[in-house]
Amino acid sequence: MKLAVNIDHIATLRQARAAREPEPVLAALLAEQAGASGIVCHLRGDRRHIQERDLLLLRKVITTRLNLEMATTEEMLKVAKEVKPDVVSLVPESPEEVTTQGGLEVISQKEHLTSYIRELKKAGITVSIFVDAHKNQIKACQKAGADLIEINTGKYADARTEKERQAYLTEVRQAAVFARSLGLEVHAGHGLDYHNVQPIVEIEEISELSIGFAIIARAVLAGLTQAVREMLELLQK
Ligand code: PXP
Repeated sequence: MKLAVNIDHIATLRQARAAREPEPVLAALLAEQAGASGIVCHLRGDRRHIQERDLLLLRKVITTRLNLEMATTEEMLKVAKEVKPDVVSLVPESPEEVTTQGGLEVISQKEHLTSYIRELKKAGITVSIFVDAHKNQIKACQKAGADLIEINTGKYADARTEKERQAYLTEVRQAAVFARSLGLEVHAGHGLDYHNVQPIVEIEEISELSIGFAIIARAVLAGLTQAVREMLELLQK
């Protein structure tokens, strides 16, 4: 199972102070050195974390696969054609949400998506759609011309009971099997962490997971002891 690391929240931390640190590009290089197969970032319409400058620098330095998550707007199509990430992941986006809420509604906007995806592919970009674990939506992804799908694991991750969790896990597994039978490459992500990732890893049809928040949150605490010690050393008279 491959891991693509989403570095949005390194930029969230930087933007909280409108500062220069922490540097998302450096985070991406460290993630690659640690073995990540790809780097993911989401350029949002409101630019709350990743900025164009980050994207341009990432494009220059990433040696694995740069995956740009974006809404299906004209503005983002222009950005993608200029930056040429290896993969574009189409996601729904609304300004009020804290994080992406659910997969893209593909069926009702199939015509728009078909021409949008054609434009991206003409620019040599592999196109992924972030989609809920529903057969009809997945079929529509294939018809619209997507190369791969990323199955939304958000409901699985947020499940409140074991029974609910197992039901969502089954949905994800069946969706993965169905998507592979259509010839789509299958990724998954959203809300995965150190406690809930293992059953998803066991789904053979899924080849890559996209994980952000849990890794960045753990990195902050894992590094805190060293950071405090380094500051204390500077404080010695
Ligand atoms: N996949 C998609 C499409 C997302 O929008 C996000 C969040 O940016 C992720 C995966 C990663 O989710 P998390 O940060 O919860 O690991």
